[in-house]
Amino acid sequence: MNKTNRELILAFESSCDETSVAVIENGNKILSNVIATQINSQRRFGGVVPEVASRHHIEQVTICLADALERAKVDYQDLNAVAVTYGPGLVGALLVGVTAAKTVAFAHDLPLVPVNHMAGHIYAARFAGEIKFPALALLVSGGHTELVYLKEPNSYQIIGETRDDAAGEAYDKVGRVLGIDYPAGRKIDELAHQGHDTFKFPRAMLKDDNFDFSFSGLKSAFINTMHHADQVQQQLNQADLAASFQQSVIDVLVAKTMHALRQYPVKQLILAGGVAANTGLRTALGDAMEKYHPTVTLLKAPLSLCGDNAAMIGAAAHVAFQAGERADLTLNADPSLEFDWIK
Ligand code: KG4
Ligand code: ZN
Repeated sequence: MNKTNRELILAFESSCDETSVAVIENGNKILSNVIATQINSQRRFGGVVPEVASRHHIEQVTICLADALERAKVDYQDLNAVAVTYGPGLVGALLVGVTAAKTVAFAHDLPLVPVNHMAGHIYAARFAGEIKFPALALLVSGGHTELVYLKEPNSYQIIGETRDDAAGEAYDKVGRVLGIDYPAGRKIDELAHQGHDTFKFPRAMLKDDNFDFSFSGLKSAFINTMHHADQVQQQLNQADLAASFQQSVIDVLVAKTMHALRQYPVKQLILAGGVAANTGLRTALGDAMEKYHPTVTLLKAPLSLCGDNAAMIGAAAHVAFQAGERADLTLNADPSLEFDWIK
């Protein structure tokens, strides 16, 4: 703790297309959370081009750092630790944040705390309320879709994950076919609310006795429907297409999560990741929890913190820091970093 009895963590996030630097007090208070997004630049490519992402991070990281310290009204000597996302993500992008964090740690003699990006997403929920253990997290983002068991603070075990596309990836691919700019999740969500589930797309792996997901069959069914309509020159209702796609994603996510909660009794369910911003999913999960698991509380990451940001990395770093986790200056980016599977 520093002189004022506050624990201040400076956190860096640069795993994909957001450069972000935050200052977090005691793991649950955001003093600053500066986010420089590259979406407008990456949009013209229809996705994230890794080399372009790295270049943007290099341009932005020192600006974000200065801004984050200024907004938080703190100086380097007030800090207790420096935290950074070291994986999973794009290697060149991760390296920018890792190098910046190592530099600050070395120059100011501060402990360095390595953070898994997915642990960060889970801990975004910390800003909506306290996490109660044991907990289960439904993590839905652009690169990952997984169910994670949290036995205690700083412990993460995968119990199921997607076998192919992540939910957000499916949104973005379907968006491309609909002519919606990357990232398409939010627009499809809005469009879905104006339509109905008339196409009845498949719900994959619902009957399998595991906690894995699959979204590539749904994506193919969607694309085939669009191509067929194109060939016979039939005009399909875009809102109904969006509503049907979204309903299929939500049904699978909710059903698998309810199934997991039957096998893993927990105190809390956490919803986090970029796709956790989906209004249909937030509502459907809330309804299902009330109906099937009324004693388990549902903690949803705040809407503004579902996407990538450094505040969530600072919150996850707080528990790692308390648990004594440290990295030295040999810390490297680990693009395919994963939680362990439950034994
Ligand atoms: O977690 P995130 O910001 O980045 C990764 O770590 O992957 O997630 C980004 C993903 C994108 O695929 C985007 O389309 C999706 O989250 N997304 C949504 C919504 N808002 C963002 N998907 C569905 N509904 C939304 N409202
Ligand atoms: Zn993310």
